[in-house]
Amino acid sequence: MHAEQFTASYTEQGDIHKEVFLNPTILKMIETIDNKKILDAGCGEGYLSRILAQSGASVVAVDYSKKMLEIAEQKTSDNLKITYHHGNCENLDFLEEQSFNLIISNMVIQDLENYQEAIQEMHRLLVDGGCFIFSILHPCFVTPESGWVKNDDGEKIHWKVDKYFYEGVYEQVFPQGHKEKLLLFHRTLTSYFNAITEAGFTLEGLVEPKPSEEMLKKYPSFEEDFRCSDFIVFKVRK
Ligand SMILES: C[S@@+](CC[C@H](N)C(=O)[O-])C[C@H]1O[C@@H](n2cnc3c(N)ncnc32)[C@H](O)[C@@H]1O
Repeated sequence: MHAEQFTASYTEQGDIHKEVFLNPTILKMIETIDNKKILDAGCGEGYLSRILAQSGASVVAVDYSKKMLEIAEQKTSDNLKITYHHGNCENLDFLEEQSFNLIISNMVIQDLENYQEAIQEMHRLLVDGGCFIFSILHPCFVTPESGWVKNDDGEKIHWKVDKYFYEGVYEQVFPQGHKEKLLLFHRTLTSYFNAITEAGFTLEGLVEPKPSEEMLKKYPSFEEDFRCSDFIVFKVRK
């Protein structure tokens, strides 16, 4: 998908799913932002880097897409402490080891072929005691064959999950209703857990975000997100 198309629906809170599910969860997990040196790994158009920098962090933001970085630079005012770099999260050897207190990666790790290497790379870049917080599509509910089963009236009966133990690449139409197919990777929850611990991290927190009352008032259609979970957010410590 083209960067412009992907970011067309973005506000300074990201897209609607970031606003409802991921931002409140990630910001709560971070606890304090002020004066932290943060890596935003797979920053996209940089909305989260800007939120963090506005709260006093000094941010290094990396993305593999030059177009995304161009959009991010355009949206970032000069007074914010953010430096954008082109790079691959699986190998960021232009960054020195132990140079960050905190690393955030919002909806990126599931897109990486070598996700274990990326998690190891985040471990290398963190100071001892530093945290890595990352969100992904929930691997128990978003699988190569998952989706709503509907009755003849189009009513959602239940969410179907299949091919959970398949690990590898698959195609999915995303966002739903669009023509274009994206290549996604699926791994089991066990594989993510093993990648975290084998890299040397300790799992400290895990959240399957639900919409708050406030968000439900603003976006009532998210009521259905009490039926199963689209996202999972990990907080791991070096
Ligand atoms: C779903 S977007 C999320 C972007 C941003 N974190 C956000 O929340 O808006 C995934 C991003 O990961 C980037 N990406 C994919 N593979 C990457 C890699 N190997 N290294 C760095 N960035 C990558 C893409 O270019 C894209 O900007």
